[in-house]
Amino acid sequence: MKDKLVQIKNKAFSELNNIQQAKELRDFEVKYLGRKGELTSVLKQIKGLSKEEKPIIGKLANEIKQELAKAIKNKQAGLGAASRESASTLEMTWPGEPKKLGHLHPLMRFLRKVEDIFMSMGFEVVDGPEIETPEYNFDLLNIPADHPARDVWDTFYLEQGLLLRTHTSPMQLRAMEKRKPPVRLIVPGRTFRHEATDASHETTFYQVEGLVIDRNISVTNLLSTLESFFQALYGKQVKIKANGSFFPFTEPSLEISMSCLICGGAGCSVCKQSGWLEMMGAGMVHPQVLKNMKIDSDKFSGFAFGGGIDRLMMLYHNINDIRLSYSGDLRFLEQF
Ligand code: FA5
Repeated sequence: MKDKLVQIKNKAFSELNNIQQAKELRDFEVKYLGRKGELTSVLKQIKGLSKEEKPIIGKLANEIKQELAKAIKNKQAGLGAASRESASTLEMTWPGEPKKLGHLHPLMRFLRKVEDIFMSMGFEVVDGPEIETPEYNFDLLNIPADHPARDVWDTFYLEQGLLLRTHTSPMQLRAMEKRKPPVRLIVPGRTFRHEATDASHETTFYQVEGLVIDRNISVTNLLSTLESFFQALYGKQVKIKANGSFFPFTEPSLEISMSCLICGGAGCSVCKQSGWLEMMGAGMVHPQVLKNMKIDSDKFSGFAFGGGIDRLMMLYHNINDIRLSYSGDLRFLEQF
């Protein structure tokens, strides 16, 4: 009986190989596995075997049956795909293959949200070059060649004396070459720093610059603008605080902090128990910078700010490492 089973198996598989049509396959299945099928008939004879033979032949027969059933299933799938591909049997009602759609990077989505908020407050969105000259990145921002602030904002230097911008602030100067006050603009964009990376520092990251120049602009306007922005982004409960700071291109200069969203201001490890998180640099545009913009500082004043988009987004989505954004890891990206 063992020989008979092997014979049936070989015959079945060689027939299966030659099958081209779904109908032939259905007939084949009935022929071997149907109630009166060749293999089924052999299986029926097993009960008449001796006690020793029964388990051996039974096992072999079942294995062959399962192998054959599996091969029939595979063949069915193969014939299905082939018939979908074949123009002569094109089935117009066959469901299409779903295409996997990608989406914008979470940083870009977040950037658009930031732009929308500022646009709703009457700000213009301006774009600028990532490759800069030292003049725009430093000199015109009141940072001469021997100023120690150049070390803090060290970057990657290119040929012909060019560099990758360390901040979006050079765009304050570039934007004012083509505009006259009053202006209200933001400049979102990529920036670069030559520094070690950690959970909150990258060598490539995004900033949003803000610049407002008009008559009688004061620190109060700066603070109320930023408070409105943070509340629109994170919700009404957010408070902001300004501490004294130093930037060569603003006077006075401020460090803007936001009440910690993780602990509600009570103090936690993220805000280092202070209840506050530093979000951006800001201040009143320095008179020397206004002069470099060819603006009369007796008539006009202005404020500027520069925030890290990556860090703003980290708080928004509760992300604990800035490097995840640039890893290209789909397990991260597909969560958004
Ligand atoms: C500046 O870049 C100033 N240009 C900001 C400014 C603009 C001040 C206008 C006054 C007027 P700072 O180096 O502190 O300042 O960077 C501003 C923000 O960028 C930081 O608060 C932080 O959110 C983000 N940032 C800075 N360095 C990194 C980094 N390596 N990785 C990620 N984000 C960073």
